[in-house]
Amino acid sequence: MGFKSFTQTIILFASLTLISRYIYSRYGKKKTIKPPKEVHEALMFSKDDTIYADKKHYISKPMDRLIYYLNSSRHTIDICMYVLTNRDIFHILMQLFYKGVKVRIIVDADMQFAQGSYVRKLEKKGIPVRWMKSTNLMHHKFCLIDASTENSNVTPLLIAGSLNWTNQALFGNWEDIIVTSQTVLVEQYKNEFERLWVHFKPIGKSV
Ligand SMILES: *[C@@H]1O[C@H](CO)[C@@H](O)[C@H](O)[C@H]1NC(C)=O
Ligand SMILES: *[C@@H]1O[C@H](CO)[C@@H](O)[C@H](O)[C@H]1NC(C)=O
Repeated sequence: MGFKSFTQTIILFASLTLISRYIYSRYGKKKTIKPPKEVHEALMFSKDDTIYADKKHYISKPMDRLIYYLNSSRHTIDICMYVLTNRDIFHILMQLFYKGVKVRIIVDADMQFAQGSYVRKLEKKGIPVRWMKSTNLMHHKFCLIDASTENSNVTPLLIAGSLNWTNQALFGNWEDIIVTSQTVLVEQYKNEFERLWVHFKPIGKSV
C-alpha cells in the first residue's frame, strides 16, 4: 500500500467514524444512566457539640445527621456494632423495621448484655441479630444503608468510624464517623458484613 492510499484510508475511516458518531448522537437511543448521587461527609462528635442532654434524651448536630442518614434507609440496613444503648437509634431502627426495611444486626456477644443494651429488645421484636461467643471482641462499628438491595434507585451508604452507639460515645467522647457512597468502600464493608453474617449465630439459638 502506497503512502497516499494509506493516508486516504485513514482519512476515510476517520470521517466514517465521525459521521456515524454524529448520527448516533443525533438519532441513536440515548442511554439514561443517571450517575449515582455522591454522598461524603465526616461527622465529629464531642461533648462540646451536645446542645441538650438529660438522662433520657440528647441532642447534637452530628447526632441529627446520623439519625438523618439512618432514617434514609429505604430497603435494607445492615449494622455491625460493638455496643448499642442509645434510645433514639433504637427508636429509628424500630420505625424502619415496621416500615418494612430489612434490618440485620451483628453485635459483640458480651456487650449485648451491657447495661441498657437495646439488642435483646430489637431481637424480641423480630429483628435478626447475630453474634459469636469468643474471647475476641466484635469491635466493628459500621453500618450499611441500602447496600443489600437489588433496587438501583437508591444510594448505598457506608457509615463507619470510632463511634459506639452509646450516649457516652455520642455525647461525651471525641469520636468520628465517615458517611460515604464511595462504591469500592461500600462493597468491601458489605463483603465483611456478609462474611460475618454467615459465620456468626442467631442469638436466640445460642443462649
Ligand atoms: C424519618 O423519616 C420519615 C419519612 O420517611 C419521617 O416521617 C420521620 O419524621 C423521620 N424521623 C426522624 C426521627 O427523622
Ligand atoms: C464502646 O463502648 C463500650 C461500653 O461503653 C466501651 O467499653 C468501649 O471502650 C467503647 N469502645 C469504643 C472504641 O468507644
